[in-house]
Amino acid sequence: MIDHLGIELVQVTENAAIAGYQWLGRGNKEQADAAAVEAMRKQLNRTMAKSTIVIGEGEIDDAPMLYIGEQLGKDGPEIDIAVDPIEGTRMTAMGQSNALAVLAAAEKGSLLQAPDMYMEKLVVGPQAKGAIDLSESLERNIINIAHALGKPRPDLVVATLDKPRHQATIRQLQKMGVRVFAFPDGDVAASLLTCMENSEIDVLYCVGGAPEGVVSAAVIRAMGGDMQAKLLLRDQVKGDSDVNRDLARHEASRCAEMGVSPNTVLNLNQIARSANIVFSATGITKGDLLQGVEKLGKQLTTETLLVQGQSKKIRIVKSQHDLSYMEQELSG
Ligand code: FBP
Repeated sequence: MIDHLGIELVQVTENAAIAGYQWLGRGNKEQADAAAVEAMRKQLNRTMAKSTIVIGEGEIDDAPMLYIGEQLGKDGPEIDIAVDPIEGTRMTAMGQSNALAVLAAAEKGSLLQAPDMYMEKLVVGPQAKGAIDLSESLERNIINIAHALGKPRPDLVVATLDKPRHQATIRQLQKMGVRVFAFPDGDVAASLLTCMENSEIDVLYCVGGAPEGVVSAAVIRAMGGDMQAKLLLRDQVKGDSDVNRDLARHEASRCAEMGVSPNTVLNLNQIARSANIVFSATGITKGDLLQGVEKLGKQLTTETLLVQGQSKKIRIVKSQHDLSYMEQELSG
């Protein structure tokens, strides 16, 4: 049982968000990410849990990332952590909306361990649970989802990422008569919005990062939604070139070591094996889900979405932080 770790994990994403905020609009996404990673690492080391990073943005030799297999903290229950210290590094660097610091925790062995690679994702809210099948065409899925929701196609909203690789899919969906909301970045927030009653988004379909996919699966499971996904190799997503073929070979061998297979449909229970998860996301910049970090005089304010799967609690945590304390905390 890990629900009791909720507020401790909120502090982890709060600190990462504040660390990222210090680099807001400075055009340097690597520095923003490194600062958030370090803040997360420090706070996870203080958390009363023995955490293992099962998926994040980096392998052991990619310092300063929170790397796959990294162990943090000494006392307490053993937990799996999926992280994205900054979901929206470009948005943070450019001062744009919808950047988050995010993590999902679950009992040891519950979250999919996979390399940091691409993942095809299809996500729906509770009302369309059971209506998705990634081994079928997207068109078939849209028809089935619309039927499950009892919505005519013109009322159906599909979120995706506005990336060159999705342009044909966007046109195909629009031709089918559904509305497409194409976000420049950030599929975790868009995935979650499929499960929120006050959101217009019914479906998330995209090819994005696998870490973001596992973080999303954990919270989608807790919120009663549904998701299917497929790990994809770099050259399948980014095109055939020497560099992409090399990366794909490395990904394929890491997949084999971790016991996962690219191009295989994974259902929600295979990505998040338990609904007993804790999910925490703190806004770095104002977005569809949360307010961003704000500096008001000598205070910083943060807004965090905390989801505790066991007790089925969804909380918005608003915190006020002393600016000079946080500056010291993050620099030390
Ligand atoms: P990061 O800021 O962590 O890189 O993620 C932003 C994001 O848009 C994710 O939401 C998405 O899964 C991924 O990037 C897509 O990757 P790419 O930018 O390589 O297309």
